[in-house]
Amino acid sequence: MCGIVGYIADENVTGVIIEGLKKLEYRGYDSAGIALCNDNNLLVRKKKGRIANLEDLIRDEGLFSHTGIGHTRWATHGEPSDRNSHPHTDMSGRIAVVHNGIIENYAELKEELMAEHGSVFRSDTDTEVAAHLIGVYYDGSNLEDAVYQATQKMRGAYAFGVISADEPDKIVAARKDSPLIVGLGKRGNFIASDIPALLKYVRQIYLIENNELVVLKENEVKIFNADREEVHRDVFNVTWDADAAEKEGYDHFMLKEIHEQPSGIRDTLIRRLDEQGEIVLDGIDLTKEEIEKFDNVYIVACGTAYHAGLIGKFAIEKLAHIHVEVDVASEFRYRDPYIDENTLFIAISQSGETLDTLGALRMAKEKGARIMSVVNVVGSSIARESDDVFYTWAGPEIAVASTKAYTTQLVCMYLIALYMGRKKEVLSDELYHEYLEELSAIPEKLEKYLKNQEQVETVASKLYQQDHAFFIGRGVDSAVALEGSLKLKEISYINSFAIAAGELKHGTIALIEKGTPVIALATQQSLLEKTVSNIQEVKARGAHVFAIAQEGCEEALKDADEFVVIPQCMDDVSPILAIVPLQLFAYYIARFRGCDIDKPKNLAKSVTVE
Ligand code: M6R
Repeated sequence: MCGIVGYIADENVTGVIIEGLKKLEYRGYDSAGIALCNDNNLLVRKKKGRIANLEDLIRDEGLFSHTGIGHTRWATHGEPSDRNSHPHTDMSGRIAVVHNGIIENYAELKEELMAEHGSVFRSDTDTEVAAHLIGVYYDGSNLEDAVYQATQKMRGAYAFGVISADEPDKIVAARKDSPLIVGLGKRGNFIASDIPALLKYVRQIYLIENNELVVLKENEVKIFNADREEVHRDVFNVTWDADAAEKEGYDHFMLKEIHEQPSGIRDTLIRRLDEQGEIVLDGIDLTKEEIEKFDNVYIVACGTAYHAGLIGKFAIEKLAHIHVEVDVASEFRYRDPYIDENTLFIAISQSGETLDTLGALRMAKEKGARIMSVVNVVGSSIARESDDVFYTWAGPEIAVASTKAYTTQLVCMYLIALYMGRKKEVLSDELYHEYLEELSAIPEKLEKYLKNQEQVETVASKLYQQDHAFFIGRGVDSAVALEGSLKLKEISYINSFAIAAGELKHGTIALIEKGTPVIALATQQSLLEKTVSNIQEVKARGAHVFAIAQEGCEEALKDADEFVVIPQCMDDVSPILAIVPLQLFAYYIARFRGCDIDKPKNLAKSVTVE
């Protein structure tokens, strides 16, 4: 996730901006850069890799300026590289822009700029398109007007910091759906995407709202709303320490990331639908003939990503009518599976660096399969070695326990399945559109759900002293049960086991006794009666049942000891909602047990060893 810092002051801003960027390192980034107004000129310095590389680049230059903007980039459009790093400039090279977010319609704006204004682009980014557009509207004396005009043409999400060599006494900033704050300092004023960047320098903050534009001068900050009227904003006094600030006030990264899921899902969906409602898989263009050629699809991954693959199988088999096998990467690579040029191999990985998944991918590639990957980290090894990459735009995930990566992986799997089914012409228009409507509605449903999550904490307070737990479910719920169980065991160290509910009576039910916690996923309305029977089976043996169902199914779950409801949705997409109470359940249980939630023992975020 990109980070922005801007500063305008009566002192040299260079070092302060770099220090601010360092405080945003925890968000993850792959390059860093800075732009300064200097003697009526613009100086731009940027470098792939760590901020230290940027510092090395400018070390001997003795840069001095009263106005500057800086950026750490988390790649979305275009690989991590010097040329794709921010800041980007307009055609004249006199306006510099840093940006956090995704400009949805950047491709059409780019075409327009090239055709009508002869724009020549030096990077693959959507941000450079924004810089050129601002340049087109700029008359050399009213930067805020140019930024305003340009944003009117953009769709998508953004937080911008913009400076011009012609008006070195101001920074203009604008926000829509990406975070942006203003800091009020003693020697000048700041913009930033996050409070930690500024904590060393300021405690007084303005929180900028959606569709607002800000003009900062050394001694003045003006905020304008969407109608360009100046608005008053109360000062927010920050009392957090640096550690709390990185977590934006949440106690743990895991909790913060659980709450980031609505925006992660929104970002992952954004730009993947064109104006006609057709799915666009970024650079992936599989023809009808190519898809028809696949007689076999392998989805291969580890841990949470493997669990996302299980849902992918449901979706691809149902919507695209292709046989799918899902494999754990460490097994797949050593079992000599049948692969040929009619095989589609899909790797799923948050980090894009998991060695077993990478090993499996290389083997499949060698045997002639077409390689597609669903990856969160742009430019990672798995992304680089794939024929086609479909990115989850979850933003960096810092907690070891995967949460937002999982739900965005699910969104990608549904989109891939719908795309293939549509191209193959085996999917009705009605079902296609129903799915898309359901997926688009999820961020809002999740937002509402997350505002009202105390119920799960209460359930956790009753069960946290247990030594073991069982997760059961049917249909896609059986895959969600696996992921819920993994979450619980990895952060709370409770011995937890997941099983398809119908399979209980074939052995595992022998372990159920008085008080055994059974977490029952009952979100599939079409299978509700059967799941209720399974709940009764375990109840009859004394289990303490915690059920999760869709709103409106409360009556069917009256035998459960506890239950929470998720918002109503189509059965098939319910995993994206159903996992959230389970993530929270694991979180609160671990918290009551006093565990190190973000860094569980024996685990690493990225598993780059066999
Ligand atoms: O980076 P990857 O998605 O390839 O990682 C795979 C697993 O190690 C990972 O999903 C792991 O299971 C989770 N951190 C568990 O929450």
